[in-house]
Amino acid sequence: MKETQFNTRAVNLEVPGTRKFSNQVKEYEDGVDLTLGQSGFATPDYIREAMIEAINQNKLRYTHNRGLIELREAISDYTKRRFNVYYDAETEIIVTNGGSEAIDSVLRTILEEGDEVIIPCPSYLAYDPITKLQGAIPVLIDTTKTNFVLTKDALVNAITPKTKAIIFNYPTNPTGMIPSMEEMNELVDVLKDTDIFILTDEIYSDNVYDGEFHSFMEFPEVRDQLFVINGLSKSHAITGGRIGYILAPPLATEHVTKVHLYNSVCVATPSQYAAIAAFTDESGPGILAKMNVAYKERRDFVYKRLKEMGLPVELPKGAFYIFPTIFEYNKDSFAFASELLETEHLAVVPGRTFSIYGEGHIRISFACSMEELEEGCKRLERFLLAYKND
Ligand SMILES: Cc1ncc(COP(=O)(O)O)c(C=O)c1O
Repeated sequence: MKETQFNTRAVNLEVPGTRKFSNQVKEYEDGVDLTLGQSGFATPDYIREAMIEAINQNKLRYTHNRGLIELREAISDYTKRRFNVYYDAETEIIVTNGGSEAIDSVLRTILEEGDEVIIPCPSYLAYDPITKLQGAIPVLIDTTKTNFVLTKDALVNAITPKTKAIIFNYPTNPTGMIPSMEEMNELVDVLKDTDIFILTDEIYSDNVYDGEFHSFMEFPEVRDQLFVINGLSKSHAITGGRIGYILAPPLATEHVTKVHLYNSVCVATPSQYAAIAAFTDESGPGILAKMNVAYKERRDFVYKRLKEMGLPVELPKGAFYIFPTIFEYNKDSFAFASELLETEHLAVVPGRTFSIYGEGHIRISFACSMEELEEGCKRLERFLLAYKND
């Protein structure tokens, strides 16, 4: 077997920094892992019970490619309740294998070789490689000087005749930022009446700690360009369930369904039953709210500790991450994270993982337990002091 036998674009893909460091930290018995974006809480009982019941009732056959209609109806109802926007269960919703497959299936449906995709950065690590796999060109926009939110001017400057799509992700992984309604309005004003597709990855929309989250769904003037990506992985502490979904107009849904059915057929049937419970069980909202109270407490704790350590940092409004600057210690975030791992057995994600505009930062996940966070902060502080004294 030779390297040249493989698809060059696949060969050129890199393993993301999140995985590299979380794999390596497992080698240390006393390792602390603050890398991964998944809840430290167990998946709520009522969701697990629904999945077990589905298995016991032998609900293990293929479903409709777009997912069980009861699940699509539950997603439609949730969307109406949460955002006061209606998406039709029959024609505008696809249940996918997590948010990841949703992103991949949408990008594969819309992109042609040479198309440009605008990605505000630092950004979630999957957008750039999936775009490149299609032979399309990621156009990375630096948002570090504008509080990690894309501005109207930066957007206008990035648009060319080749722009096919833009990918928004609020609350943002890795910064936790959310734009104001006014800022969203300005972006919508630029994008409406263009043929640019808008992907809005709202996987953290139910993990918001300050202020209100507004969706691009709330702007009817862009509905015909919009692909909403969401899922239960983060909000319901069920990353392994692989439950995501896409909301999009009927024509878009028709085409994405074809890509989705060839790569997935459908989502695992017990996971779909678990998802119905997640959307419909009455105990759900209370449990989610409780988890969010705990995440907020953890966010506040780690923010305070980072400030005490003298690291410049913005307070994230949502998601599971905080993104301090380590520029004055080491401009190379990979070198910084590697040394931290070797000396303190503490794993964080180098900012460079989230594009070149993430360089000079590290990402710390606060979705883990309070004990892990306390220990992690202690080790980071010790590491910084040793660095200064070097
Ligand atoms: C912004 C963003 N989108 C999508 C995903 C993927 O989610 P899933 O586990 O549902 O595939 C993640 C996971 O970290 C994420 O941070």
